[in-house]
Amino acid sequence: MNNFELYVPTKLVFGEGEIKKLESLVPKDKKVLMLYGGGSIKKNGIYEQVTEALKDHTVVEFGGIEANPEYQTLLKALEVIKNENIEFMLAVGGGSVIDGTKFLSSAALYEGDNPWDILAKRIRTYVGLPFGTVLTLPATGSEMNSGSVISRKETKEKLGMGGPGLFPQFSICDPTVIRTLPQRQIANGVADAYTHVMEQYMTYPANAFLQDRISEGILQTLIEIAPKVLADPNDYVAASNFMWSCTMALNGYIQKGVPTDWSVHMIAHELTAHYGIDHARTLAIILPSAYTKKFEQKKEKLAQYAERVFNITEGSVEDKAKAAIQKTEEFFQSLGIKTKLSEYTDEYQGFGAKVAESLTAHGMTKLGEHRDITPEVAAEIVEMAY
Ligand code: NZQ
Ligand code: ZN
Repeated sequence: MNNFELYVPTKLVFGEGEIKKLESLVPKDKKVLMLYGGGSIKKNGIYEQVTEALKDHTVVEFGGIEANPEYQTLLKALEVIKNENIEFMLAVGGGSVIDGTKFLSSAALYEGDNPWDILAKRIRTYVGLPFGTVLTLPATGSEMNSGSVISRKETKEKLGMGGPGLFPQFSICDPTVIRTLPQRQIANGVADAYTHVMEQYMTYPANAFLQDRISEGILQTLIEIAPKVLADPNDYVAASNFMWSCTMALNGYIQKGVPTDWSVHMIAHELTAHYGIDHARTLAIILPSAYTKKFEQKKEKLAQYAERVFNITEGSVEDKAKAAIQKTEEFFQSLGIKTKLSEYTDEYQGFGAKVAESLTAHGMTKLGEHRDITPEVAAEIVEMAY
C-alpha cells in the first residue's frame, strides 16, 4: 500500500426527511445564495422543503444552472454573489449544480482578473466561500469531494478544478429524491458511480486489500440495486443503497494508498464537450476500449475483478480479463446505455484526432496509472469506440 493522507471534512447527513436539518446546518447570521438547476426541484417538492427549512434565513436565489454547468451562466451567479454580498451558498441539485457552486466558491475569493484561469491554469483552491449541498441525484459523489467539472460551450471545453478549500461543509442526502428522476438519469448515476470505482480500482495490484474489497463491494452493490432502482425508484432500500454507493465511490476513501487511472474520464469529457453526450454515457463508450487498449497492464486486476465481482473462475488470466471487459460493457447496456460513439452521432470520423489535439492543448499528455496514455494513444482508444 502507498503512503497517504486522508482529509474529508464534509458532514454527511443521510436519510429520508433530513432536508429539514438545513434550518440548523445553514448559518443564520450569513446571507445565503441558494443555487439550483433547470427547475426539477420546483416540481418534486424539494424546493418547498428547502425554503420551509430556511424560512428564518436571509436567502437569495439563483436558478438555471444547466446539466454540465456552463461557465457563462456561472459568471452571472458570480455577479449576484458580489452585488448581494453573499457569505454562504447552498447548492440544491445534482453534480452540475454542486460543481457550479464549487466553481463559484473558488471564483468568489479569486483575486485574478479572469476566473476561467482557475480551470485553464489548474489553480488549486485552498480557501473558498463556504457552502453546503442538498443532493437531488446520486451519481457524481460531488456532495462529498472537492472536485468540480465546468463546461464552456463557446470553446467546446470541459475542464476540472478542485482543492482542499472546495469540500462542501455539509451535504444532505435524502434517498427519496430519486423518486422523480427520469430513468435516463438513474441509469447515468449508476454508470457514473460504477466508473468512478473502476478508475480507482482497475489499475495493477498494489497490496491494498481493503481498498480492493471496498471497491468490489461498491461495484457489486451497484449491480445488485441497478435493476431495482430502475424498476421502482420508490424502493427505499434500493434507493438508499444506490445513493450511499455513489457517495462512497468518489469521496476519497477508495483512492487512498492505491494507483489511480482517470484516463477514461479525461478522454470521455471530450465527448461531452464536443457532442453534448451525457457524462455517464461517454464513460460507457470509452471504458471498454480503454481497457482493451491497456489490456496487458490491467489484465491481472481485470482477472481479479472477473473472479470477485462476476464470479468467473474458469480459464486463464487473459480469458477472465477479457470476459470482465465484456461483462462490464453488458452491464452498461443492461442499464439502457449504448456503448459505441456511432450510436450517438453520425459525425464521428476524425474525432480521435480532435481528442488528441484537445488533450495536448490542455496539457493532458500523460494519462493513466502508468502515465503512458499519450494523446496518440487516446486517439486510438476513441477510434476503437466508434
Ligand atoms: O436541472 P434540473 O431541472 O434540476 O434537472 C436535472 C438535470 O436535467 C435533473 N435532476 C436532478 N435531480 C432531479 C432531477 N430530475 C428530477 N428529479 C430529481 N430529483 O437531472 C439532470 C441531470 O443533472 P446533473 O446534475 O447534470 O447530473 P449529474 O449529477 O450526473 O452531474 C453531471 C455533472 O457532474 C460532473 C459531470 O461531468 C457533469 O458535468 N461530474 C462531477 C464530478 C465531481 N464533482 O466529482 C465527478 C464526475 O465524474 C463528473 O465528471
Ligand atoms: Zn464521472
